[in-house]
Amino acid sequence: MRSSGSYVTSSTSGEAVQAFVPYPLPPRDPVLAPESFAELNRVAELALARLSGVSGLVPSVDWLLYSAIRKEALLTSQIEGTQATLTDLFDEEAGFAVRNTDDVEEVTNYLRAFRLVQDNLRDPAGLPISIRLLCDAHALLLDGARGAGKQPGALRRSQNWIGGTRPGNAVFVPPPADHVAGLLADMERFIHSEPSPALPPLVKIALVHAQFETIHPFLDGNGRIGRLLIAALIEHWALLSEPLMYLSGYLKQHQAEYYRRLSSVRTDGDWEGWVSFFLEGVASAATDAERGIIAIATLVAADRRRLLEAPKVGPASYRLFELLPLMPRFTIERVRQKLDTTFPTATAAVKTLEDLGIVTELTGQKTNRSFSYQPYIALLTG
Ligand SMILES: Nc1ncnc2c1ncn2[C@@H]1O[C@H](COP(=O)(O)OP(=O)(O)OP(=O)(O)O)[C@@H](O)[C@H]1O
Ligand SMILES: [Mg+2]
Repeated sequence: MRSSGSYVTSSTSGEAVQAFVPYPLPPRDPVLAPESFAELNRVAELALARLSGVSGLVPSVDWLLYSAIRKEALLTSQIEGTQATLTDLFDEEAGFAVRNTDDVEEVTNYLRAFRLVQDNLRDPAGLPISIRLLCDAHALLLDGARGAGKQPGALRRSQNWIGGTRPGNAVFVPPPADHVAGLLADMERFIHSEPSPALPPLVKIALVHAQFETIHPFLDGNGRIGRLLIAALIEHWALLSEPLMYLSGYLKQHQAEYYRRLSSVRTDGDWEGWVSFFLEGVASAATDAERGIIAIATLVAADRRRLLEAPKVGPASYRLFELLPLMPRFTIERVRQKLDTTFPTATAAVKTLEDLGIVTELTGQKTNRSFSYQPYIALLTG
């Protein structure tokens, strides 16, 4: 059986425990068995290529990105335990009162962290994938009340553990703090090594995610930064032109297996099992996203046709309709601002869409009314 690391005694927290120190990537003795991933990798790459293509069904890829990025942000935070919903997120952006303020902050922090990484990787003068960039992302992720005590932006300086109340009864004790920087530097080197048929890009991403979780370099937020790294590398390595997939949905749905497969890499050297699980997840998540895009494109096309066929529709109504996918919940004031128009014109534009049954009013009041593009939200949350 292959070993994926060794144990060292760590006694930082008063009792001596066996901490796991992973070997640098890639797996060896033996190397990763190509027949274990070749077919799954082909299927996953194909599903991603189809997903890139299907985004052409809508006039603006921004429509799809708006919801896909938010779904990933939400689902990755839900794995962590946040209770926020997609509607909370839309409401917060609409300026409505939101129940789970702290949870929504956690999700918007993820959005900021992801954007930072994306901006850097897209900018030739930006930071490459590096420990520095991950620390900068971590600082944004843990910004605010909840992360304050968790050393945002910094690699941990103490021994941590997963499961259990103390290192002595933990499921897993990650490497001692003084190993973390060196292990991440090894990981960074692996990321920048040339892909080869023996290690295609998606397989490399799978290896990197598991290695990152095993190193567990931060006091908190390791799951979310590790999953952010997946999304960032999929785009950076051109497997998908835009982040249209939300893999965290699959990982959340198979959370027990997700954690078990990560553990088996450590306990049984089972890299093949983890890589297969990961590739199946990518294929499944990409196919789901493709289906979602087709449903959105169908809905928006049908509603647009209704609008175009309706009599006496003013230009502001057409313009408002095209904004809905980026603003599925809104007030009249927000419409007025977005369309840069007068209050009466904004009110009339909203009324046209309401009369056509495209948007609905939520409060039942005469003033401070809130509107929603409900069938669209139903598709995204369904
Ligand atoms: N047995 C395990 N072995 C290795 N990694 C694990 C194991 N169980 C969980 N993990 C990883 O650790 C993450 C949790 O670590 P941490 O709490 O630092 O991250 P987080 O982003 O705050 O939360 P999380 O799940 O809780 O997203 C999990 O998401 C998963 O990626
Ligand atoms: Mg956590």
